[in-house]
Order: sequence, then structure tokens, then C-alpha cells
Amino acid sequence: MIYPKSLIIAVFVSFFIVFAQACGGDDTADRTSGQAETAEAGLSEFELEHGVGPITERIELSDEFDPELVEKGRNIYEMKCEMCHNMEGRMVGPALGDVMERRSAEFVMNFILNPSGMVREHPTGQELLREYMTAMPYQNVMEDEARAIVEFLREYNELN
Ligand code: HEC
Repeated sequence: MIYPKSLIIAVFVSFFIVFAQACGGDDTADRTSGQAETAEAGLSEFELEHGVGPITERIELSDEFDPELVEKGRNIYEMKCEMCHNMEGRMVGPALGDVMERRSAEFVMNFILNPSGMVREHPTGQELLREYMTAMPYQNVMEDEARAIVEFLREYNELN
């Protein structure tokens, strides 16, 4: 029996479509699971390194600590952070005594100013939430206060 040319072409074309769909399907699955794991999609390089939130550029830090800023930071820390964070060892949240070695000042400020965004959108925030299983709430801290807390944490890290 001789098949018409058009039938042969039709069979080839449908094979091709099935194949293309199978491969395309796998590809999409890979990409989505990758995203769920890292959530890196859509974050800029700055955001990946320094966090997601109102701090969108590097801030200036001098080598000398500003004692007034340290004092202001310490006061806010004692009022709004100490119930969940220890300097050494984990509590509700991670230890913060060495956080300035792990993270940039901008990252820490974005975490203070936008904790829910950080655990939703940033891979490190998501990881921390999985580990600590409590979402850090926004503590009504203003940007200049977050900067003061960073100064306090920097000095603590240096002296201990
Ligand atoms: C109700 C408890 C709670 C309070 C209050 C709180 N935090 Fe947190 N914090 C957490 C938890 C839990 C995490 C881990 C991330 C998550 O699960 O949201 C965290 C994470 C962090 C991180 C990221 C640490 C890292 O390793 O990157 C920083 C920085 C931080 N907190 C600073 C602060 C500061 C500063 C304050 C006070 C203004 C504060 N937190 C108040 C619970 C709290």
C-alpha cells in the first residue's frame, strides 16, 4: 500500500509536536522548581547582595564609630529587638553579635525596615524563615534608627 505524501508529512509533524511539548514541559518544570528554591528571579544584583527594601544604594560607613549613633542604636535595640535576638546564640531569631560579618550594612537595614519583604522575596530571608519558623515583624523603626542599630552592631562586633 502506498501512503499519500500528505499523510506521511502529517505523521512526522505530529511526532515533532509531541516531542517538542515533552521537552518544553520538562524545561518549564525545572525552571519553576529552581525559582522556588532560590527566588533569585527578578532580583537585581544589588538586591541579592544587600537585600530588598528601601535601601537601594550603598551607604557610607566610616572606620571610626560614632558614639552618639551607637548609643541611639543600643537604646532602640534594647527596646525593640532584644526580646527576640541574643548577641550570642539563637533565640526566636538568629544571633546578631556577628551579623555584621555575615551581612552588609544595607542588608541589615533592609531586614529591619522590610522584614516581610525579605522573607518573601529574598533567598536568604526565605532560608531564615524556614530555619526559625517565626516571621520577624516590622518594629516601626525609621531609616535613621535602622542606621543607628547598624552602628551599634558594628561596634559590638568590633569589641567582642
Ligand atoms: C518577634 C521576634 C523578632 C523581633 C522583635 C525582631 N526580630 Fe529580627 N528576626 C527574627 C526572626 C525570627 C528572624 C529570622 C527571619 C524570619 O524568620 O523572619 C530575624 C532576622 C533578623 C535579621 C537577619 C539576620 C541574618 O542572619 O541575616 C536581622 C538583621 C534582624 N532580625 C535584626 C533585628 C533587629 C535590629 C530588630 C529590632 C529592631 C529585630 N530584628 C527584631 C525575629 C525578630
